[in-house]
Amino acid sequence: MVILGIESSCDETAAAVVDGDRTIRAQVVLSQLEEHRPYGGIVPEIAARAHLDHADRLVAQAMDRAGLEFADLDGIAATAGPGLIGGVMVGATLGKAIALAAGKPFIAVNHLEGHALTARLTDDLDFPYLLLLVSGGHCQILAVLGVGSYRRLGATVDDAAGEAFDKVAKMLGLGYPGGPLVEAAAAKGDPGRFTLPRPMKGRPGCDFSFSGLKNAVRLLVEDLPHPVSDRDAADIAAAFQAAVTDSIADRVTHAVRRFRADWPAGRALVTAGGVAANGALRAALTGLAEKEGLDFVAPPLGLCTDNAAMIAWAGVERLRLGLTDTLDFAPRPRWPLDPGARKLGGAGIKA
Ligand code: KG4
Ligand code: ZN
Repeated sequence: MVILGIESSCDETAAAVVDGDRTIRAQVVLSQLEEHRPYGGIVPEIAARAHLDHADRLVAQAMDRAGLEFADLDGIAATAGPGLIGGVMVGATLGKAIALAAGKPFIAVNHLEGHALTARLTDDLDFPYLLLLVSGGHCQILAVLGVGSYRRLGATVDDAAGEAFDKVAKMLGLGYPGGPLVEAAAAKGDPGRFTLPRPMKGRPGCDFSFSGLKNAVRLLVEDLPHPVSDRDAADIAAAFQAAVTDSIADRVTHAVRRFRADWPAGRALVTAGGVAANGALRAALTGLAEKEGLDFVAPPLGLCTDNAAMIAWAGVERLRLGLTDTLDFAPRPRWPLDPGARKLGGAGIKA
């Protein structure tokens, strides 16, 4: 089985060709970082136009690298939500058009399912497993039970973790995107100089919150001489990263306990999303998994951040089960993986 995947839900335009035997035959990703940098964040309209400008060329490139024609494919999978709707429409419509022209099945993929199933592409992992999904748009913990079968154990009630990294970077004058810059600054800082709150730590359940922490950083920064010195920026970045890591580790510990009680066959803690690139967070999760007797699985960075191989792979998994979609499938700005979960206010449901 060989599937073309298309991703366009945020600020990456991507196309990939993936085999049923878990081989990535080709994968191309185009980041729109430079288009958005002057605005210090993603501008949805700019994102949609950039997807429109590049998506068909990237698909042609991926097909070319795979050495295949559309007629050789078994199906076309495209992200159909959740995400910035203008971009989602571009990728989903392109996917439908190719499916129609080539007479192949179309698979509408939930972007989050792409992230959730990546560990099966990279590590051939069995269900069930526990997934921490932390990126600029998503922050949630899911029990992954099967294709199309998820239980959300927790999600953020306000901002996503990556969003908090990006805002803090902006406050410290570090630039965009913030995560890697905050991590680099933190490496030179003293996490003990400033005391920051650990949101939700010790509370029952597995939900996250980052807006209070973000505001605590804002208050700290307001009291400092401006422009913020390198020393101050490094110390605040270190304190912030330690607080986020501590808070996430506490939430994941709660989730692990619940996961083990409800799904004792589960063996792995998996992480995905851009924030999963953070070294301090990875170290904390590695230690936590070891203590709890779970394997820790973190796909390589290029498959943690947004990409089309994960969309093609989700297409493989769905097509194997006969789960295809009709061409009138409507792209969705919101599309929770666990529709039964209660509604939250923040990026937990966006993502
Ligand atoms: O998964 P991703 O590439 O895109 C989506 O949001 O879907 O995640 C991007 C987010 C950004 O907020 C970025 O600042 C954050 O991941 N990020 C990091 C690191 N690298 C990227 N956050 C903390 N530490 C990092 N090293
Ligand atoms: Zn994503």
